[in-house]
Amino acid sequence: MCGIVGYIGNNDTKEILLKGLEKLEYRGYDSAGIAVMNEKGVHVFKEKGRIADLRAIVDEDVMTNIGIGHTRWATHGVPSKMNSHPHQSATGRFTLVHNGVIENYDLLKREYLTGVNFVSETDTEVIVQLIELFVQDGMEVIEAFRKTLTLLHGSYALALLDEQNSETIYVAKNKSPLLVGLGDGFNVVASDAMAMIQVTNQYVELMDKEMVLVTKNEVTIQNLNGETINRAPYTAELDASDIEKGTYPHYMLKEIDEQPLVMRKIIQMYQNEQGKLAIDSEIISAMNESDRIYIIAAGTSYHAGLVGKQFIEKMAKIPVEVHISSEFGYNMPLLSEKPLFIFISQSGETADSRAVLVNVKEMGYRTLTITNAPGSTLSREADYTLLLFAGPEIAVASTKAYTAQLAVLAILAEVVAESRNISVDFDLVQELGIVANAMEVLCDSKEIIEHISREFLAVTRNAFFIGRGIDYYVGLEGALKLKEISYIQAEGFAGGELKHGTIALIEEGTPVIALATQESVNLSIRGNVKEVVARGANPCIISMNGLNMDEDSFVIPEVHDLLTPLISVIPMQLIAYYAALHRDCDVDKPRNLAKSVTVE
Ligand code: F6R
Repeated sequence: MCGIVGYIGNNDTKEILLKGLEKLEYRGYDSAGIAVMNEKGVHVFKEKGRIADLRAIVDEDVMTNIGIGHTRWATHGVPSKMNSHPHQSATGRFTLVHNGVIENYDLLKREYLTGVNFVSETDTEVIVQLIELFVQDGMEVIEAFRKTLTLLHGSYALALLDEQNSETIYVAKNKSPLLVGLGDGFNVVASDAMAMIQVTNQYVELMDKEMVLVTKNEVTIQNLNGETINRAPYTAELDASDIEKGTYPHYMLKEIDEQPLVMRKIIQMYQNEQGKLAIDSEIISAMNESDRIYIIAAGTSYHAGLVGKQFIEKMAKIPVEVHISSEFGYNMPLLSEKPLFIFISQSGETADSRAVLVNVKEMGYRTLTITNAPGSTLSREADYTLLLFAGPEIAVASTKAYTAQLAVLAILAEVVAESRNISVDFDLVQELGIVANAMEVLCDSKEIIEHISREFLAVTRNAFFIGRGIDYYVGLEGALKLKEISYIQAEGFAGGELKHGTIALIEEGTPVIALATQESVNLSIRGNVKEVVARGANPCIISMNGLNMDEDSFVIPEVHDLLTPLISVIPMQLIAYYAALHRDCDVDKPRNLAKSVTVE
């Protein structure tokens, strides 16, 4: 949430910052700003709205070689020009961008800054005012910066300009992601390598509670005791074309279409030379040594965890609990004797999940992260990582990461099962290949699904998704996709549960999307459909080939019944996509949301 960039060098700073912010817009998009500095001083441009709105007000004539920028997802204070970053100290000497939340900002204000006139409602402004206060008290800037950092409780990725020093960007990080990129005669700062991949693929990771002095030719990392830290850069394996939309109207549609490819890539990446599925033996031992697995995740990744539980329990026979990360912290269940924690997170940065990771690590438990982001916080901090290999997911609504999570969880379950001599009655490599082919068929069925979306969702204000067993979990994901991008109130329910209360909401024409991909519950879910139809609902049944009936609206190709979520979710994703499109919603950047949820 929120993205920051910085640049120092000889090139067109404004354009590099703006392009970088465009790439980070997925992290927050309610307001944006840049500050650039030249011999005439610091020039701040900020605007409520998107980067395009900011671009429109940036003065093209300001020439500069150093600057910082920010795209915001509001936490403290409404989205407005006044609350947007960069923020400046009272005299205007210091200018700051910040991603994160300063929990003790109010306390710091009362303790140190009673004489200062604040112009915004943000927690960020406290940081920049404190730095100025300490400098006015006689400290060197670097000392004032360090002292301020030691006072902050919470999360931050910061970049600071000092009007009296056009040679340095002061940078610091705690809990929020931040990288420094290295160039020839320039250096950059970014929340995500994606922002600056156009100018460099060499990055240095920063750890929590580190600060960095970034000049044109040098990057000096220090800890908060002032000791210098040497760290080698790594090469970011990002193809610039991965982060472009190409000919697609939206990232979401591109990412839906990428799913067959991702599936094949995962099969390839998790196969050994003999063509057998393989996973790091330490991970397999950790799974086998645990008496219970706790899956921790949020949103779509939580929904993937629910399906993952089925894979692990059915194939590897290890009991699994699935928990919402934001609940787990203060509502921890009674843990088993030898738990293993699996964190599922597309971004690897979700603050709620990270809080649990830190907690359970302190308790001495082993941890595995399943993520799309190598080098992300959750990946670095867990004992083990399994990657999704899905390529950057930029649309706020998660699609290809969900199916990739399911595939990796299935592979994990299969490899563990094999290590325990539990025979799985199907060949997973072959079945995932069938899944990839089925995904292609579904991606080619857009016209039919667009039609279904229009027929069922064009005018409704709410919708229900029902399913039984594994279909119920896909219904939860279908409902989340629909509500987050089309703003139609949507809820997923276990088929049998509606009649215990929610059926009261069914009115004439209420759309009920029912999933029927499981033979064992095919007749029961159809019975639930009859119950809602009797009360006026407009049913849309999505079934699987072989289980289909005349009244069904759409039939997905047949795959192994445990793997149906990998493909039944695709019509859900497309239904949501077209519903959002028909309602003129901003598909890739739905209101109030951001891609990477780095605040608790
Ligand atoms: C929904 C969506 C969110 C994320 C959730 C967790 O489409 O994208 O619900 O799934 O914020 O994010 P990660 O997986 O990055 O931890």
